[in-house]
Amino acid sequence: MNQAILLKNRPEGKPQLSDFEFTKEDQPEDQDGEVLLKSKYVSVDPYLRGRMRDVESYIDPFKLNEPLESNIVAEVISSKNSNFKEGDFVHGMLKWKEYQTSDGKGLNKVDEDKASLSAYLGILGLTGLTAYISLDKIGDLKKGETLLVSGASGAVGSTVGQIGKIKGCRVVGIAGSDEKLELMKEKFGFDEGINYKSTEDMAEAIASTCPNGVDVYYDNVGGEILDAAMNNINKDGRVINCGAISLYNETEPQTGPRYEGIFVKKTVKMQGFLVRDHVKEFGPAIQQLTKWLNEDKLTYSETVVEGFENIPQAFIDLFEGKNKGKMVVKIY
Ligand SMILES: NC(=O)c1ccc[n+]([C@@H]2O[C@H](COP(=O)([O-])OP(=O)(O)OC[C@H]3O[C@@H](n4cnc5c(N)ncnc54)[C@H](OP(=O)(O)O)[C@@H]3O)[C@@H](O)[C@H]2O)c1
Repeated sequence: MNQAILLKNRPEGKPQLSDFEFTKEDQPEDQDGEVLLKSKYVSVDPYLRGRMRDVESYIDPFKLNEPLESNIVAEVISSKNSNFKEGDFVHGMLKWKEYQTSDGKGLNKVDEDKASLSAYLGILGLTGLTAYISLDKIGDLKKGETLLVSGASGAVGSTVGQIGKIKGCRVVGIAGSDEKLELMKEKFGFDEGINYKSTEDMAEAIASTCPNGVDVYYDNVGGEILDAAMNNINKDGRVINCGAISLYNETEPQTGPRYEGIFVKKTVKMQGFLVRDHVKEFGPAIQQLTKWLNEDKLTYSETVVEGFENIPQAFIDLFEGKNKGKMVVKIY
């Protein structure tokens, strides 16, 4: 029998295991024009929380009692589609199922000889693309500037910080443990780190680690950390709104200080970013990321959870900061 994971309830606040349901269904068979896929690595991502709400957004909400989906690397087990052959590896937006069929639309082949399969969900997938394209489009990083990054030891944040170093910036990261700060500095080359969980005054901590102020704030978390960054933003500063994970489980709209004055006085530009709006730039961006990887200018971390049955818990653990780098689930 084939296992699938359905959305059972729309979570209230932090998602719980009881919001998910495991079901068994008949093993699928590929029809003419289709491939039969076996999931190998499943990406769990903070944005999936947004799809669990029944609200209009840039992407349709998940339906109750239907399988969830995310980016997945899968193996072609059999093929009746001339574009794919048995043994190929592909990635694409696929359902949380052990086996599934596909007509091949939206599937991209991946080359295991060029990078590990899981890397196509992270540094060579939407994570790397998000970091690279958003910095390119909005960041306008200049040598010697200060780049402040939140969610800094995570998948997007760790890549953003490294690109900041490649561009000659001073890079300061914000993360949730001293161990993560160590990783940021030792592995990813950040200059300084702030542990937001043990820091009482974030604005002051940013001021002392960014003595020349913040030229670019890369925001993965929103909320009070964004407020504190705004208190340190420089003239002509740029704020990239990539995500706001600190707010994803809130049940009521949150309010904060008013920063209109700072926007005007400091002529700050703040812009939201959605990687899915930039598909045309994926090719050149992947080329650049691959080049940096090959030149050892870029590296990555992964937290690999094992077992199909652990996908929901791995997703929930993102909100507890249990990952270092990209969180993926390996399926046997
Ligand atoms: N706009 C786009 O196109 C796009 C694309 C991809 C991702 N994103 C966004 O980018 C952000 C990072 O995504 P990712 O895939 O790289 O995830 P990630 O950073 O690898 O994982 C999430 C991390 O967020 C931190 N976190 C959790 N709760 C938090 C809270 N309340 N306050 C502050 N930090 C918290 C945790 O690290 P700590 O231990 O440091 O707390 C956790 O490890 C998310 O907001 C995501 O939605 C946007």
